[in-house]
Amino acid sequence: MESTEDINTSQFIAHLSGAVSWPGHCYWGKLAVMRAAKAAGMRMRRPLVITDRAAWNAGATVVTQALAATSNNEFQVFDGVVPNPSLAQVRAALQLARKFQCQSIVAVGGGSVIDVAKVVYGCLCSGLEPDELATVRGQAWLEGAVSADDLLLLAIPTTAGTGSESSSAALIQGEDGRKHLYRSLRTRPAFVALQPELTLSLPFGATAQGGFDAALHALGAWVNTDPSPIGKAIALHALRVCMRALPAALDNPDSLSARSDMQMGAYLAGVAIGICKVDAVHAMCTPLESRVKKPHAEVLAPLFRVVSRYTIQTDAQAYADAARQLGFGNTRDDHQAALSLIEKIEQLASHAHISLHFEDLSLSEQDGNLLAHQALKSASMPLNPRVLTHRQISSLYLQMVA
Ligand SMILES: [Fe+2]
Repeated sequence: MESTEDINTSQFIAHLSGAVSWPGHCYWGKLAVMRAAKAAGMRMRRPLVITDRAAWNAGATVVTQALAATSNNEFQVFDGVVPNPSLAQVRAALQLARKFQCQSIVAVGGGSVIDVAKVVYGCLCSGLEPDELATVRGQAWLEGAVSADDLLLLAIPTTAGTGSESSSAALIQGEDGRKHLYRSLRTRPAFVALQPELTLSLPFGATAQGGFDAALHALGAWVNTDPSPIGKAIALHALRVCMRALPAALDNPDSLSARSDMQMGAYLAGVAIGICKVDAVHAMCTPLESRVKKPHAEVLAPLFRVVSRYTIQTDAQAYADAARQLGFGNTRDDHQAALSLIEKIEQLASHAHISLHFEDLSLSEQDGNLLAHQALKSASMPLNPRVLTHRQISSLYLQMVA
């Protein structure tokens, strides 16, 4: 048996050691919501449904039937989540949960809804206020171990994109207007129901933006330097699924099979980023989103065009490997193969009507420096295949708007 001393003195090789924390129970396909609710059993007590108006319109019947089948006829609904949610929505939902002594949370909606639900859930379990969850004390709770006694969080996505249902992250805008990232395995939903019919009514724009975001999650988790073989396998498969499913869902929005694939691709990409994180494209996106009021995917795309091309100048291998495994990098030249993958992703953006350029954004040198400073705080930044310095990041922001 290996002693602690042996472990301490062993020469660890990064890619030969690691751990994975699997996401919770996932049900997909026909009657997924009903099956997940039944499987949650006694843990589904006095639920608070957190949602937004559009998502609740799409999901109310299915969710109400599932709750009724599990003897949960009395549930509360908070339908006040808005895109790019802030602490105000977290506080309002938390107040309702505490007032009615809710013992479980059911999130019905897209990434914003699930992000709010995660933070409300964290406050409900820890007894902390939303402000406190962002402090050292809150961080200690967020980093704690998942317990079988924890309250239930069930996520029912009505979009396919952010992967919030399977990732450990939640983005909430703070009082200062900046987005705060809460990262915790404890607030990752223990149960997920992927019922594709709930995404059938998604309009072209939401389908396009969600799908493109999911593809860049998968690609970011695949190309970055995190060594997890499990995360890499899931990321590559998620990329394959997203690149096939997004055009299919855009061209055939009534196709349950295309919607199902897109939902699974986004879920898998969320699992991958929960294990591996992402790359400089997402790391540089978060600070820019505090200044640019555009959907996430429309901020990602211009960054992707510039950052990925800069990265493959010196570190093309992972991009080239993906291109070859997906069947369109038919060249021995790594840079050329990598470029073919980048161009495929850009074609995907074009298919999704997502611009690769900002038409109306200007940034000064000072802006670039400030954004670079903030981007360097992201845990994904040091994982970019090409290590980027403050000066390089600042320069890339300026190149993007040139
Ligand atoms: Fe994203």
